[in-house]
Amino acid sequence: MKKDKLLMTPGPTNVPYKVREAMARPMIHHRTDEFEFYFTSMNENLKKVFQTDNHVLTLASSGTGAMEAAIVNTFSPGDKVLIANTGVFGDRFVKIATKFGLDVITMDVPWGKGVTGHHITQILDSQDGKNIKGVFVTHNETSTGVANDIQSIGEALKDRDCLFIIDAISSLGGMDVKTDEWGIDIVIAGSQKALMLPPGLAFISISDRAWEAIERSTFPKFYFDFLAYKKSLEKNTTPYTPAVSLIVGASQALQMLIEEGLDNIFDRHENLGKACRAAVCSIGLELFAEEDMASDLITSIKAPEKIDIEKVRKILNLDYDIMIAGGQQQLKGKIIRIGHMGYVDGFDLIKTLSALEKALMQVGYDIELGTSISAAQNILKY
Ligand SMILES: Cc1ncc(COP(=O)(O)O)c(C=O)c1O
Repeated sequence: MKKDKLLMTPGPTNVPYKVREAMARPMIHHRTDEFEFYFTSMNENLKKVFQTDNHVLTLASSGTGAMEAAIVNTFSPGDKVLIANTGVFGDRFVKIATKFGLDVITMDVPWGKGVTGHHITQILDSQDGKNIKGVFVTHNETSTGVANDIQSIGEALKDRDCLFIIDAISSLGGMDVKTDEWGIDIVIAGSQKALMLPPGLAFISISDRAWEAIERSTFPKFYFDFLAYKKSLEKNTTPYTPAVSLIVGASQALQMLIEEGLDNIFDRHENLGKACRAAVCSIGLELFAEEDMASDLITSIKAPEKIDIEKVRKILNLDYDIMIAGGQQQLKGKIIRIGHMGYVDGFDLIKTLSALEKALMQVGYDIELGTSISAAQNILKY
């Protein structure tokens, strides 16, 4: 019997039935009161989830499009920026900023390790740190399973004249992001991860200070010109034809998040993270991310010696209909990543662990069935 795939990946993630149902309703026109109702509801709840009074723009784009848009809207050629390169997605900021001719200072962090305010301060106080106009950090570095310490970085940047931009593409809606309290000027989120939506939307919050920089930016832009989005947002509408069905879905998904309550959501993810880490360690697997910076939304696990970990993933997918992720770039074949973000509970994790045990056994890993499940059950609350 074939069942729907269980997506235990860092995105796309499982989409709740209520959201799928909302998106399947007959199409509506975007210049109507009905669309305005969904758009307004989405925007009000986005502010709550972003924990901000700032405008939150909605772009028809994946996360990378919003990363590029943040750079071309906020900076000008030659501007000096500092980028924490903690994995594939920190590196993506480096690649985009370099391509557009920014003067990029890269802080290279060994993959599996994270950054804190202390690391950022060291660079800003060095000779290299003079005249930096923006600091970029990935919140949840999905490629390595590390959660960088955004709160302490916000604190370190508090009285400095530079913008703080974070990629919260995979964290927003699963981990605490106190946009205003932590002084984050630009927060970028993606629809297909903790926000429980299909791919296709990116959300971006922009502080007053960042809007001033946006007014000064000289890069050419048209479709992703933030000033056009702001002008329309102030009239409860969009500059161009929006992704209507995704916005209707987003209004439903955000409503579900608000009903669950942000603190409960963060607690659920924290609990899933703890349970997953304890479970995989109980069967002798080793974690890839440094212990005190491990993400609660995704667990990265080193491939045990002599085990074909890609085969394990294939068995999970083809025999048990459970998708987990492999390693990216230099981590290909070296790690697996279990996503537990968004519409996921403890029983989804238990199912994944039981399939993982079976698959590991099939490829010759020595394991006593049930060990990781028992370890997880002892921690799981949800
Ligand atoms: C942390 C992070 N940043 C950026 C991206 C890129 O987003 P997208 O694939 O939606 O363009 C991803 C996607 O996996 C991500 O996890």
